Amino acid sequence: MKALRFGCIGCGGMGTLHVLNSKYAPGMEVVAYADAVEERARKFLADFGGEYATGDASRLFADASLDGVLIQTGERHHPALGIAAARAGKHIFMEKPIAVTVEEALELENEVRKASVKYLIGLCNRLAPAVLRAKELLPDPWITFGQCTDTVSGQACHNLDLIVHQFHDAPLVSVYATGGHYYGLDGHLPADSFIATLRFADGSQACYIQHGRAYNALMSKYSFQLFGQDKCVYLSKRFKECHLSTALAAPDFSTIFSGPDFSSPDAKSHFKDVRGPHGYMGHYDELAALCQAIRQDTDPPMTVEHGRHVLQVEKAIFESVTTGQIVDYGEFLARWGAGQPKR
Ligand SMILES: NC(=O)c1ccc[n+]([C@@H]2O[C@H](COP(=O)([O-])OP(=O)(O)OC[C@H]3O[C@@H](n4cnc5c(N)ncnc54)[C@H](O)[C@@H]3O)[C@@H](O)[C@H]2O)c1
Repeated sequence: MKALRFGCIGCGGMGTLHVLNSKYAPGMEVVAYADAVEERARKFLADFGGEYATGDASRLFADASLDGVLIQTGERHHPALGIAAARAGKHIFMEKPIAVTVEEALELENEVRKASVKYLIGLCNRLAPAVLRAKELLPDPWITFGQCTDTVSGQACHNLDLIVHQFHDAPLVSVYATGGHYYGLDGHLPADSFIATLRFADGSQACYIQHGRAYNALMSKYSFQLFGQDKCVYLSKRFKECHLSTALAAPDFSTIFSGPDFSSPDAKSHFKDVRGPHGYMGHYDELAALCQAIRQDTDPPMTVEHGRHVLQVEKAIFESVTTGQIVDYGEFLARWGAGQPKR
């Protein structure tokens, strides 16, 4: 199998993680590095090996020997870099969030589809083993409850993606939310904390709470409970654990990740083992999924439409926060003429 050759754009925290994980992905190699701060790209070349480093990402787009690029620069730069990559015919891994505005996300979506390149958005938790197990245990929850700390801009997309693209299969029909600025985060957004109710066409509902930087160490950064007719699935500890409870039995501890925690003080030495093939957040799996999609000429599991759509869900929440009204989600999406992606 000929290795797929990638360039890494954005040599920061997530760049480190993805380059390390690429070493485990079959038939994938990262050979070039670009960062606006060229020194960072040079350090990656020295640390991880490869062919060259540059301060100018366009060198990677012009390199005919590269099959694809990994883009993790932050949402403000994602659309322009993604469009340039698509126009150069490169397959794309792009970290979340896809963009700041829906318009930019749509422009990127159009370019990706026009160029027929494979594109995977890094909504990695979708491939986390415990999340997949939860879907298996309870494929059609009636009610979902999720909570998350940290910024809306950084974290909400992961969890909203799970709600609308993984846990609930029916289309989203309405959104109601209240919230405000409690923690001084996300000044460019209408709220840094909110409580949102999402209602689906099959009558199922999700409640999602985003609460700034107040942290519950018992639950970790995010958690979910899925309730069905006679069971509850509890995803806890940042998706290291998936527990099944039924009305009659004691909890059945279905899946517990037992490797070292990347957020522990000795994380650095364990980094690649924790988030590599045995990791629990889907980071390794998303790279493997992109390579598989390229080889098999299929759509990856998390598409450019998913990246754009989850941003629209976030915007609908903010519209409700701002207006105090229930948002009719069909009417809301009609403004852009871009609907809900296929599940
Ligand atoms: N999926 C996850 O688990 C997860 C976790 C953390 C962050 N992220 C996402 O990953 C992205 C990157 O986050 P990070 O923590 O690695 O940030 P970072 O600041 O550590 O790294 C970003 C790098 O990109 C470089 N850069 C910025 N603009 C550039 C450009 N136009 N061309 C080339 N290089 C450029 C910066 O110089 C920096 O070195 C963000 O979008 C963030 O939301 C995802």
